[in-house]
Amino acid sequence: DCGLQGETGYTENTTKLSMAPDNGGFTDDAGTCHNISAEYVTPLMGKSWFNLRSFAAGTRNCYTLRSIVPGLKYLVRARFMYGNYDGLHRLPMFDLHIGVNFWRTVNISSPFAAKFVEVIVVVPDDYVQVCLINTGAGTPFISGLDLRPLKKTMYPQVTAAQGLVLLTRFNFGGDENTGIRYPDDPHDRMWFPWVNSSSWTEISTTRRVKYEADSPFEAPMAVMQTAIRPRNASHNIEFDWEPQPQANDPSPGYIIIMHFSELQLLPSNAVREFYINLNGKLLNRDVMRPPYLYGQASYNTFAIRKSYYIVSLNATANSTLPPIINALELFSVIPTTNLSTNSQDGMCAVCTL
Ligand SMILES: *[C@@H]1O[C@H](CO)[C@@H](O)[C@H](O)[C@H]1NC(C)=O
Ligand SMILES: *[C@@H]1O[C@H](CO)[C@@H](O)[C@H](O)[C@H]1NC(C)=O
Ligand SMILES: *[C@@H]1O[C@H](CO)[C@@H](O)[C@H](O)[C@H]1NC(C)=O
Ligand SMILES: *[C@@H]1O[C@H](CO)[C@@H](O)[C@H](O)[C@H]1NC(C)=O
Ligand SMILES: *[C@@H]1O[C@H](CO)[C@@H](O)[C@H](O)[C@H]1NC(C)=O
Ligand SMILES: *[C@@H]1O[C@H](CO)[C@@H](O)[C@H](O)[C@H]1NC(C)=O
Ligand SMILES: *[C@@H]1O[C@H](CO)[C@@H](O)[C@H](O)[C@H]1NC(C)=O
Ligand SMILES: *[C@@H]1O[C@H](CO)[C@@H](O)[C@H](O)[C@H]1NC(C)=O
Repeated sequence: DCGLQGETGYTENTTKLSMAPDNGGFTDDAGTCHNISAEYVTPLMGKSWFNLRSFAAGTRNCYTLRSIVPGLKYLVRARFMYGNYDGLHRLPMFDLHIGVNFWRTVNISSPFAAKFVEVIVVVPDDYVQVCLINTGAGTPFISGLDLRPLKKTMYPQVTAAQGLVLLTRFNFGGDENTGIRYPDDPHDRMWFPWVNSSSWTEISTTRRVKYEADSPFEAPMAVMQTAIRPRNASHNIEFDWEPQPQANDPSPGYIIIMHFSELQLLPSNAVREFYINLNGKLLNRDVMRPPYLYGQASYNTFAIRKSYYIVSLNATANSTLPPIINALELFSVIPTTNLSTNSQDGMCAVCTL
């Protein structure tokens, strides 16, 4: 919990996860602690948003996260809420690095928005650094930093040389007011509800929906128990996004992971099977027939670079039922070849190892 005053942490009310103050050697006490302005505090807001640490001095300020198992995969999540903590009403923009690798630009576009930035990386050492880079567009700050170990078998696209930066992680058909995270997801990924769409109908089950043990993505049961289908059964499911140029890469590559499970016990004469297309061409050669109450993922192994992205799920000629989808994860890739490089080798005004 960045900027938390005092020596002791606390247990977060909803997740029951323990939060620690960031004055315990994470930053070498660089930066200053602030509370967000009272007008931005809402009754349901979690305690971890109340305060933050800002870095007015130095171009590069780093958090060092220790107790890492070298070679293991980690999810690193940085959280931001400006809340006019400095009374200046000035929304900053700055860069985040993981080690010396560009992670992404953080553009704070509203004072009350809770912003999450997530990356999955292999950490080669027993520590990893998260660095805030002042790019001359305002004072960098951070509200919270989460570190979660993942199983080695998860997200095989993540290697020593490549990390995955989260664009979106959607739970289709779930409660529109709440996301899903720990304890429902043992890996504490955050699954956000897809906003209501009049072109889709929700499907859900209360029965157990499982991924096989050690499957690479393991979307949690609470996410897999809901899905959507087109309201008009002869339509496709479609979603699209624009490539987002990054400071390190004008045309980032994308990884698309889609989660499917049949939630309805189909009569023997019914078939639900569909093609998965990207920009009108087959993304996967295999036709998808979601298994009943089991999870199955469809994904690309190598990053795809296009000038636009339209994913369309369309029923095969044999299918008697429209396509469904339970969840979607979308990532861009970053190189992480120098993750272990000591950041004091680069430009480093205030940092700690
Ligand atoms: C932030 O708020 C807490 C709790 O109200 C208070 O103890 C602390 O002194 C405040 N910190 C700053 C920097 O104002
Ligand atoms: C968390 O729970 C404690 C104990 O029930 C309560 O005192 C506190 O106000 C809660 N905090 C938030 C942010 O909801
Ligand atoms: C940052 O966000 C602001 C406000 O939403 C927007 O106007 C601006 O174009 C963004 N800048 C960049 C570089 O994305
Ligand atoms: C979702 O959209 C449908 C159709 O537009 C509408 O009837 C329904 O009330 C909406 N649900 C919510 C919770 O807003
Ligand atoms: C469903 O979509 C088909 C093809 O676009 C259209 O011909 C049909 O009228 C639609 N049905 C309804 C009920 O909207
Ligand atoms: C569905 O996808 C297949 C394979 O890409 C394509 O041949 C077919 O034209 C598509 N049908 C519709 C209705 O979009
Ligand atoms: C449709 O069904 C026929 C007959 O069972 C089969 O030969 C064909 O491969 C099926 N096509 C698809 C796309 O599943
Ligand atoms: C990694 O370090 C080498 C040597 O310092 C450098 O040439 C290369 O550009 C760096 N790669 C990245 C992704 O930063």
